[in-house]
Amino acid sequence: MSKLLQDKTALVTGGGSGIGRAISMTMAREGAQVAVADFNEDFGRECVEMIVAAGGRAQFLKVDVTDEAQVKSMVEQTVAAFGRLDIACNNAAVSRGNGPIHQFTKEVFDQTLEMCLTNTWLCMKYEIEAMLGQGGGSIVNISSNASLKGQAFNTAYATAKSGVNILTKSSAAEYGDKGIRINAVSPGVIRTPGLEKYFEEQPKIAEGLKKAAVMKRLGEPEEIAEAVVFLGSDRASFITGQLLSVDGGGAVR
Ligand SMILES: NC(=O)c1ccc[n+]([C@@H]2O[C@H](COP(=O)([O-])OP(=O)(O)OC[C@H]3O[C@@H](n4cnc5c(N)ncnc54)[C@H](O)[C@@H]3O)[C@@H](O)[C@H]2O)c1
Repeated sequence: MSKLLQDKTALVTGGGSGIGRAISMTMAREGAQVAVADFNEDFGRECVEMIVAAGGRAQFLKVDVTDEAQVKSMVEQTVAAFGRLDIACNNAAVSRGNGPIHQFTKEVFDQTLEMCLTNTWLCMKYEIEAMLGQGGGSIVNISSNASLKGQAFNTAYATAKSGVNILTKSSAAEYGDKGIRINAVSPGVIRTPGLEKYFEEQPKIAEGLKKAAVMKRLGEPEEIAEAVVFLGSDRASFITGQLLSVDGGGAVR
């Protein structure tokens, strides 16, 4: 039986660790050639080594996806290396702290938008350009359940990720007739290095988040990766403009 992403080429931003690493590895396991883009060189190279050791094909790209010139070059390098870009997963994001709005600085609010929303838009701009030139492709953005109902003391991040949702839907409407499908996956609370750091910094918020899923456990990065691979693949050929929560039922609480 052929693999789900046989002969596909893929790009994963923030692909070096956490959810992005699981996405890169699962895509490679399913037969894709994967460009692992990350601003952390150690994480990125380690991920590529793990893919190659498992018999997959991958290459590392050192990129800060908040920088337009680097994003343009990231897409160009992927197409140059693999010949085309079939699937792009825009996963890289950094949350820049919590707190009530009246104690939050504009600087941190702006940085959060830049690192969670504007970067996604920037990546899409160049990914879509490449996909238009080859007759189609599939994009999967990583959102967050923080975007669904609002989240106290996490306004900037929740606002940025709700922007990712409407960016996904609006762009899906724009490019559906050009053969480009655009969807988003909304993780619940997933065990990653980023989350562990966040739990250390925000012990009170951590208590609530640990109980978020009706399945009463944290999610694993691989459980997000499976959904991304499906949405990115041809098996999801009539699905576009959707936001899929992978959250152990966190969104139905
Ligand atoms: N872990 C969770 O519970 C959770 C929940 C909801 C949403 N998410 C979302 O999932 C995605 C991945 O989260 P994670 O927990 O795996 O994070 P993480 O911090 O563990 O990993 C993020 C990776 O992205 C890279 N990265 C960050 N900003 C970058 C940039 N500007 N350019 C290039 N690389 C960059 C980091 O180096 C790192 O390798 C994010 O979009 C996050 O908002 C995570």
